Amino acid sequence: MKKPLIVIATHNRDKLREIRRILNQGFLTVRGLDDFPPPYTVRETGKTLEDNALLKARKAVQRTGQMALSDDSGLEVAALGGRPGVYSARFAGSGCSYADNNRKILRLLKGKKRSQRRALFRCVVALVTPEGKERLFQGRCPGWIVEEVHGQEGFGYDPIFEPKGEGCTFAELSLARKNEISHRALAFQRAAAYLKSSFRQSPKRTVR
Ligand code: IMP
Repeated sequence: MKKPLIVIATHNRDKLREIRRILNQGFLTVRGLDDFPPPYTVRETGKTLEDNALLKARKAVQRTGQMALSDDSGLEVAALGGRPGVYSARFAGSGCSYADNNRKILRLLKGKKRSQRRALFRCVVALVTPEGKERLFQGRCPGWIVEEVHGQEGFGYDPIFEPKGEGCTFAELSLARKNEISHRALAFQRAAAYLKSSFRQSPKRTVR
């Protein structure tokens, strides 16, 4: 029987591989945007992670005619009123590097005690169908901003973020461990469980 097809709204092959690993339990055919040329970009103009995830998933449905999943993530620092949040990629200005962003956070939190360094990584995954059904799934990973960069793994804010219960930064964890506890993994696991319950009995059944 033909499996339902889902498009992950990304051109990034590494991201697609990770998401495929979480989603593909045999009941879905998972494709990326590279399977639907030509490539395109979406301006992330939303004011929230939810807005941006939906923007990207809706665009992927328009371009491919298939059901699509998209994600948007950000780091929310309590002492900064939840910033950088949806602006995580460009917190230190347009064209800034990951190191610039990390330096800016460390500078803003300089002298603050651990109890004032609480932070949360949040990921929102949007599922949009060609029939116009939309669902959101969230993954959260709480922790702290450490006082200086530690570790070489990962990307972005990984060297300054210590997830709760690990005793080291994301950048000191293996990718396999990060993918067990990260905001992104948790959000995609929720989406996967939902899709599985929708399609397990009959591939013809659409999402609720
Ligand atoms: P995106 O929505 O996944 O592209 O994430 C937006 C920005 O949030 C990235 O450019 C990073 O700065 C930050 N970010 C998201 N997820 C992570 C993570 O797992 N580790 C470190 N930084 C992250």
